[in-house]
Amino acid sequence: MNEIAAATAALARGELVIMPTETVYGLAADARNPAAVARVFEAKGRPRFNPLIAHVPDLAAAMKIAELPSLGVTLAQAFWPGPLTLIGKARPGGACDLARGGLDSVAVRVPDHPVALALLQAFGGPVAAPSANRSGRPSPTRMRDALEETGGSAALALEGGDCRVGLESTVVSLLGERPAILRAGGLTRGELISVVGELEEAPADALRSPGRLALHYAPDAPVRLNARSPEPGEAFLAFGPNAPQGERVWNLSVTADLREAAARLFACLREADRTRPTAIAVAPVPHHGLGEAINDRLRRAAGYRG
Ligand code: TXA
Ligand code: MG
Repeated sequence: MNEIAAATAALARGELVIMPTETVYGLAADARNPAAVARVFEAKGRPRFNPLIAHVPDLAAAMKIAELPSLGVTLAQAFWPGPLTLIGKARPGGACDLARGGLDSVAVRVPDHPVALALLQAFGGPVAAPSANRSGRPSPTRMRDALEETGGSAALALEGGDCRVGLESTVVSLLGERPAILRAGGLTRGELISVVGELEEAPADALRSPGRLALHYAPDAPVRLNARSPEPGEAFLAFGPNAPQGERVWNLSVTADLREAAARLFACLREADRTRPTAIAVAPVPHHGLGEAINDRLRRAAGYRG
């Protein structure tokens, strides 16, 4: 039996599978099966109220489980497969209550990764897949990191190489008058605006997003932001040319390329953390384009609540 067939069978039995995507590795379960979804929460140590994203192979499959208004369809056509998650009203028979965190809305996404798409096509139903880290920790962008985080709870892991984007998808709600960003991510605000025009401010109840909790994406060491150079004992994540160099220095992008920095962020946090530093100091990262999502993850890694 090939790997995709084995993974499909595992999902159908209610077991978990580590699934690569272009953003980060996910811990996948049949989104219609509450027992399977409960295993995901247990493996991550995740608060029950945090809803999961249902992954599907195409827009037609998304529309079977979510009501997408016309702007949602426009966004899906522009950016799927890709790092965009859309929130619409849930249709019955799609993602189960537990996967939706008890909400009457549902998050859907078509990932841009050949292995994920092969699995989703073969499985034929929605697949709930949060990032494959334990709750609060940096998301895994390499298969070995995913195995280290939640591998013990998965029936099998699909190898998909290093994640191209390296940050989670941008989560966009379609429940209001205009689309609203609930979580900055791999698709930039500018890219969204270029297709739908104006966005709305995220509603206050977006605070339900686990990505908004303090100490999300956090390594073991404390994180010190906007550092020009490391103090003795610290590891350092640099950005751009002319940065300090050294044994405990990781440059997110020597050429100051935000795409490269996004792709390397979580792996660099992990590598720096492995040296057991007193803290991980991080250089300032410009706030435009993907910098918005990078800075969001860094602030949360440092324990910012907001
Ligand atoms: O790139 C990604 O999105 C990765 C890969 C594996 O696809 N997945 C991921 O899932 O990051 P997770 O569970 O770590 O994050 C899901 C985000 C959370 O911020 C959650 O609050 C939000 O989506 N979300 C899910 N359903 C929602 C809903 N109905 N309303 C509002 N937010 C929702
Ligand atoms: Mg996550």
